[in-house]
Amino acid sequence: MTTRHAHIVGWGKAVPERVLTNDDLSQMVDTSDEWIRTRTGIGERRIAGDDETTLTLSLRAARQALERAGLNPAHLDLIIVATVTPEHNFPATACLVQDGLGATNAAAFDLSAGCTGFVYGLSVAADLIAGGNYDTALVIGAETLSRITDWNDRATCVLFGDGAGAVVLQGSEAKGGVLATILGADGSGGDLLKLPAGGSREPASHRTVAEGRHYLQMRGREVFRFAVRKMPAATRQVLERAGEDLESLDLLIPHQANQRIIQSATRGLKIPPEKVFSNLERYGNTSSASIPIALCEAVEQGRVQRDDLVVCVGFGAGLTWGAAAIRWSVPLPPERPPRRVQFWQEMRYRYAALRSLVRRLLRRLLSLGVRE
Ligand code: UT7
Repeated sequence: MTTRHAHIVGWGKAVPERVLTNDDLSQMVDTSDEWIRTRTGIGERRIAGDDETTLTLSLRAARQALERAGLNPAHLDLIIVATVTPEHNFPATACLVQDGLGATNAAAFDLSAGCTGFVYGLSVAADLIAGGNYDTALVIGAETLSRITDWNDRATCVLFGDGAGAVVLQGSEAKGGVLATILGADGSGGDLLKLPAGGSREPASHRTVAEGRHYLQMRGREVFRFAVRKMPAATRQVLERAGEDLESLDLLIPHQANQRIIQSATRGLKIPPEKVFSNLERYGNTSSASIPIALCEAVEQGRVQRDDLVVCVGFGAGLTWGAAAIRWSVPLPPERPPRRVQFWQEMRYRYAALRSLVRRLLRRLLSLGVRE
């Protein structure tokens, strides 16, 4: 069997329109624009509107990524949604994305790895593609953290924002794409960043709601120290695994949590600031969505060119960390299967798209009938 390499062939992002500035926050809690900017680098963040959810943001980002890849949803055979704010505890948000897109040929599941979720998802998808059982995967990082934020807690409410980013990965014999990934976890730090209630330990009750236990809790200073230690180590490790070195790195895309964490990590690695991407000022910390949104914007701004070496590196709840080294390789050289195979593949996609359309129409008609 020939070796398959997973390439990013599409990228997309979605952020809510509503902007919450530091000055707005200073009207809500005892804080100031000056404190937030100097301690975090954040200037504003996006907050989901009433009709926006992790699913709607995921779908917007996914559609953009598919369009840029020039693929239709029926081409997907795998969908992974990394999130800590899923649409529901179950079913998986990824299944709802699958239905919303009409990606009837795709397996779908969610993945929870805190702010490292997107890197975890990228790693899993790239390995499944390299293994040969999957060919075209959609990996989404999406969050509506505003729904689990305690808006009276100034230590956390100034940090987070909502959004989604997505990539489409496709297998090819062409070298490049996701060169290497490393993932890590240290569950002994699980208490440092968590959502205490709503799971089997503390099911929702009047007490849990009254005590605010459905809000995110964080011991910021400890997470800060962990991040400063892990980000440089993970970057070095993934480059080594990819057979590359720091000098060859064209762009580092770190998890957007705190500008001081990013600066400290890149200083340690001696990476010049122009090789480090940051959009934290505009979006705050969007957890699993931060890296794919940043990657998408870096490409849109021309900061990533063909053959560039990019490293995405993250850390987060769990505690978890992870990094991915990517050789940017779009457009991919064409890989044409024999004509007969192409014909039957196309027929299969069209049939799946038609079947999904008919199913959704029927479901719509039936639900109208029930309402009447
Ligand atoms: O995505 C992964 C998860 N999260 C993170 O990566 C967060 C990592 N941690 C951090 O980014 C930083 O620890 C924070 C930004 C959360 C906090 O910055 P810090 O420099 O570690 O501040 P601190 O927690 O040590 O607090 C310093 C002071 C405290 O006052 P006292 O005790 O010195 O009088 C806080 O009460 O700042 C106070 N403070 C605030 N003051 C104004 C905390 N939050 C605020 C605030 N506005 N919003």
